[in-house]
Amino acid sequence: MSKTVRKYLIAGNWKMNLNSAEGAELAKDVHSLVGSQSDVSVCVCPTFTALESVAEVIKDSNIALGAQNMHYEASGAYTGEISAEMLRHLFCNFVILGHSERRQYFGETDASVNKKTLAALAANLKPIVCVGETLEERESGKMLEVIKTQTEGALVGVKAEDADSLVIAYEPVWAIGTGKTATPEMAEEVHAEIRCMLAGLLGTDAANKVRILYGGSMKPGNAPELLAQKNIDGGLIGGAALKATDFAGIVDAAIKLSK
Ligand code: PGA
Repeated sequence: MSKTVRKYLIAGNWKMNLNSAEGAELAKDVHSLVGSQSDVSVCVCPTFTALESVAEVIKDSNIALGAQNMHYEASGAYTGEISAEMLRHLFCNFVILGHSERRQYFGETDASVNKKTLAALAANLKPIVCVGETLEERESGKMLEVIKTQTEGALVGVKAEDADSLVIAYEPVWAIGTGKTATPEMAEEVHAEIRCMLAGLLGTDAANKVRILYGGSMKPGNAPELLAQKNIDGGLIGGAALKATDFAGIVDAAIKLSK
């Protein structure tokens, strides 16, 4: 199966930036730059408090909405949490799960990412499941073991028929927000390994449908080479997603490669 059957996905992870009004402003700019193209899937993931205002701005566009986290239960006594159903109610299509910042600062584990992944799929939300090694893990030769544990741990109980909805983001922790990007070859090596792991879990046909994004200091300058790799199906963009022209530059690189 060729890469062209997997539509590129460029997702902006706004992290804990921009209030509701500021988020709507950025969404307006993104909308005017890339809101009407349909060659590439585009998604923006604002904070919970900006979801509604951003949803309003992008409602008639081809830009999808995503959240940055969720709880795995539908409702109940979970103070401070938000469920998949609540996100669907605000027209979210995607949810980022297991981002390394959540693993590092908020005790997210492979087991909790797994529960959230299953809950997201059950609620018709597309999970963007993040995996990636630290510099220490890479340097000590444990990189693939770490990624295998995270990938398999997150996907227990996920079925082949979920493949169209499933997105994996490979984000080497040492490349996030540091300006250090994995070279296209380094990233492709890991993406190909992840696809093999997915084939082992879901079968080859399903594995070929899963989009695997690269994340970690992706910018308009390095996006064309990264996105040209066989198993890189898009990007999860942090810093560069906060500037509409940079984000649009990455979307444009994906559009050029998909023609
Ligand atoms: P970055 O962040 O693009 O700022 O490196 C990516 C991410 O954390 O998703």
